[in-house]
Amino acid sequence: MKLKLFTCALAFAATLSAQAQSHVMEVKTGKPGAAVSPTMYGLFFEDINFAADGGLYAELVKNRSFEFPQAYMGWRVFGNVELKADGPFERCPHYVVLSDPGHRERRTGLQNEGFFGIGIEKGKEYRFSVWAKAPKGDTQIRVQLINENTMEEHQEFVQQKLDVKGSEWKKYELVLKSNRTEPKAQLRIFLSGKNPVALEHVSLFPADTYKGRKNGLRKDLAQALADVHPGVFRFPGGCIVEGTTLDTRYQWKNTIGPVENRPLNKNRWEDTFDYRYYADYYQSYGLGFFEFFQLCEDMGCEPLPVLSVGLACQFQNGLDAHAPMDGLQPFIDDCLDLVEFANGPADSKWGKIRAEMGHPEPFNMKYIGIGNEQWDTPYFDRLKPFVKAMREKYPNIKIVGTSGPDSEGKNFEKGWAAMKELKADLVDEHFYRPENWFLGTPEGNEKERWPNCGALRYDSYDRKGPKVFAGEYACHGKGKKWNHYETSLYEAAFMTGIERNADIVEMATYAPLFAHVDGWQWRPDMIWYDNTRMFKSVSYYVQQMYAMNKGTNTLSLTMDKKPVAGQPGQDGLFASSVFDKTTGEVIIKVVNTSKQQQPVTINLAGMKGERNAETLTLTWNGSMDEENTLDNPEKIVPKKGSLACQAEKKQTVLSDQVPAMSFRIYKVKK
Ligand code: AHR
Repeated sequence: MKLKLFTCALAFAATLSAQAQSHVMEVKTGKPGAAVSPTMYGLFFEDINFAADGGLYAELVKNRSFEFPQAYMGWRVFGNVELKADGPFERCPHYVVLSDPGHRERRTGLQNEGFFGIGIEKGKEYRFSVWAKAPKGDTQIRVQLINENTMEEHQEFVQQKLDVKGSEWKKYELVLKSNRTEPKAQLRIFLSGKNPVALEHVSLFPADTYKGRKNGLRKDLAQALADVHPGVFRFPGGCIVEGTTLDTRYQWKNTIGPVENRPLNKNRWEDTFDYRYYADYYQSYGLGFFEFFQLCEDMGCEPLPVLSVGLACQFQNGLDAHAPMDGLQPFIDDCLDLVEFANGPADSKWGKIRAEMGHPEPFNMKYIGIGNEQWDTPYFDRLKPFVKAMREKYPNIKIVGTSGPDSEGKNFEKGWAAMKELKADLVDEHFYRPENWFLGTPEGNEKERWPNCGALRYDSYDRKGPKVFAGEYACHGKGKKWNHYETSLYEAAFMTGIERNADIVEMATYAPLFAHVDGWQWRPDMIWYDNTRMFKSVSYYVQQMYAMNKGTNTLSLTMDKKPVAGQPGQDGLFASSVFDKTTGEVIIKVVNTSKQQQPVTINLAGMKGERNAETLTLTWNGSMDEENTLDNPEKIVPKKGSLACQAEKKQTVLSDQVPAMSFRIYKVKK
């Protein structure tokens, strides 16, 4: 009897102590606050890490128009092949002529290596197309998909003949169906007729692209983007907007109209890092501004194009590299003309091109970024005439300026002050920072350097100036600058601060988005792939969890009347809450960055009675350095669950044990 009493007393004490230790949070569910912008969580696309050609853009042939400075880069030519420069496409004039090799046992032809090989999948169809003519009488080519390194008798595993007739340029097409998967195949073309053939714009696409478009996007990658449910899509960069030199900046006007006539551009990421060097990194512009706008429309998000302000990359250049103040008009015109291209009537100069490309309706563009990651007076002085011209002609377009490459410091401060003065609508901030920046726990001299880091960053922002666009950010582990679980979790923790401050933060996009495992220059990245497979990183899932649970209005969530932001005494907990007016759901996000499970009690003030909460949890029991991989793409993914909330006298109460190092979302119908 005595023992029984003692056991009961112990149990009671344990319950009491568990309650005492529980972190009690208050959510004011009856008082929806600031609206969460529908653009809040988005995507930022830049052609870095072979994100466009060799990535999202589904073209499988590299240097399809022989326009690379070394005309045969990506190709191996054999036999009697001549390069010519008077082709049918003015801005891509090169083509090849294959002629008889001079002996019946000799061959003429060419072979393309694709981007780190050509990814071919069993049972799928591939659309081969080429512009061709037979200047000296009808002839024939043989088109093959090959595995050059096979031990089988034949290297080719798919082959078709194509008759080329007539001396005028014509587009020819055939469909190749593969009976095997070859992640690193090549495309080989033999001249099999006696007469010569001229070939231009040699192209191979999977037939099954995203939305089935011919000049389409790789389906798995585009679908992964759509599955985020982004609110905004920023494109085309990043540093490629600026170029290493101005002549290699991204020029949107070169990216529209027929793909065959879009001139090549050198990719600025070709030679940025000599320790990650890819001599063959160019931009075909096959994925251009029309395709970007179309993708935004497909995904139901706002397009945010970023254009050059007349500055070449400031990191890489002195002042003489930039457009002079009296030479800015063409750059300003690019901005004004872009609005007409996106939104103008189908009979306007630029709107007409959009209409001819198959989209007479406007794209309804609302934002424009001017300058990527610029700083100081060279930027501020140049931006001024752009703002003036835009305001005069298109007062409803929101202008996004930038505070430069740093998340704090002299240039950052100057940038914000200048953007306020110029009345930019939003300021694009960039922060690639380590773990303790994201957690808001600076050490030593970091305290001085990072006065405003962590999830409380935006709590003290001036509410009267421009809004914030957190346009590029990612947690870069100290000494571990690659994707791993821990840094993704800290991104989730930081984002509670973005959400709490939705009145000032209008949009946020993680960066970079894509990386080819065989051709990257920068990491971590959100989505990785090879030629046939892809995986979504844990950071991807963090972004998706926020984007799909963004709600419509903020709700106050506090612990001891303070924001839950990993503050002293909060045991590594971060939390935020929103209300979704469309579904009537209260959504609570809790991130536990401590190594222990944490008891949490959430009082849902304004709600009564029992409820069931849906949960979505990202947690991992293995090493914090791990990540999803191509071979194990779903190792770490969010999992659904549910939790009963109790009806207490005053309010509904949600009690939980939040696992160590985890991110959990609760959704409760009001
Ligand atoms: O996201 C990679 C690069 O980081 C971007 O191109 C640039 O804006 C920033 O420096």
